[in-house]
Amino acid sequence: MKESIDKDKIPQHIAIIMDGNGRWAQKKGAMRIFGHKNAIAAVREAIEGSAELGVKYLTLYAFSTENWSRPEDEVSALMELLVDSIAQEVPTMMKNNIRLLAIGDTESLPRRAKQKLDEAIGLTSKNTGLSVVLALSYSGRWEIQNAIHSIVKKVEAKQLQIEDITQEVIASHLNTKDIPDPELLIRTSGEIRISNFLLWQLAYTELYFTEVLWPDFRKEHLVEAILDYQKRERRFGKTGAQIKPKF
Ligand code: IPE
Ligand code: IPE
Ligand code: MG
Repeated sequence: MKESIDKDKIPQHIAIIMDGNGRWAQKKGAMRIFGHKNAIAAVREAIEGSAELGVKYLTLYAFSTENWSRPEDEVSALMELLVDSIAQEVPTMMKNNIRLLAIGDTESLPRRAKQKLDEAIGLTSKNTGLSVVLALSYSGRWEIQNAIHSIVKKVEAKQLQIEDITQEVIASHLNTKDIPDPELLIRTSGEIRISNFLLWQLAYTELYFTEVLWPDFRKEHLVEAILDYQKRERRFGKTGAQIKPKF
C-alpha cells in the first residue's frame, strides 16, 4: 500500500488528534490509563511512518486545555506518562534526526514535565529531519487569545499600527509561527469534531476521520490517510477547471 503513495504529494505537515485511549481500555475491561500507556506505541508508529515518508512536521494533540477538567488521578497519570516517555524517546529522536517542539501553555505543566520537555527540546533543537510538535495544554482559542493580547500590547506601545495587522502578522503571533499550516488533519476514534485544535491553522486543511482507536493506530493507517488525502482536489475557492493542469 505504501508503494501506491505519490512521493511528490506527501503533505509537509500532518496534524493528529489522538483520540480513543479511554474507550480502547474500557473495551478490554481495563482502566482508562491503560489506554494512555498503550498510546505510546501508536505515537512511535506515527513518528516513524512520517519520518520514513518525508513528512516535515507532525503535530500531535496530546493534552488539551479542556483535558485539565478530567479526574485528578487521570491528569496526574497522564503527566507522569508524559515525563517518562519524553525522557525515554530522546535517544531515538537523536538517532533519527528528529526535532521536538511544543505548542500550548507549557508553563501550566507540572514542574518535572516542563523540565523534561524543555530538556528534550533543547537536546534535539539542531536536528534537521522531521519536527514533532507536541500540543500540550493547548487549545486554539487560548492561542488566539494570547496572540490578540500580544498584538494589542504592541499597538499600545506604538510598535505596530492597526492597518499593519495582516493575516501574516496574526499568524506570526501564534505558537505555530514558524510552522506551515497542516495540509492533513487525522482524528481517530470516530469523533467528528475539532475539539479546539489549531483553529486558525486548519482553515484549508483536508480532514480525515477514522474509527480506529488511537492505541491501535499503526503506519498502515497513516498511509491510508495520506492515500485518501492524495485523491482530493484542493481548490482553495477556485473552480475545478481552474486548478487542472492545462495541456
Ligand atoms: C485521547 O484519548 C487522549 C487524551 C485526550 C489525553 P481519550 O482519553 O480522550 O479517550 P476516549 O475519547 O475517552 O476514548
Ligand atoms: C481531544 O480529545 C484532545 C486530545 C486528543 C488531546 P478529547 O477526547 O479531549 O476531545 P472531546 O472532549 O471528546 O471533544
Ligand atoms: Mg477522547
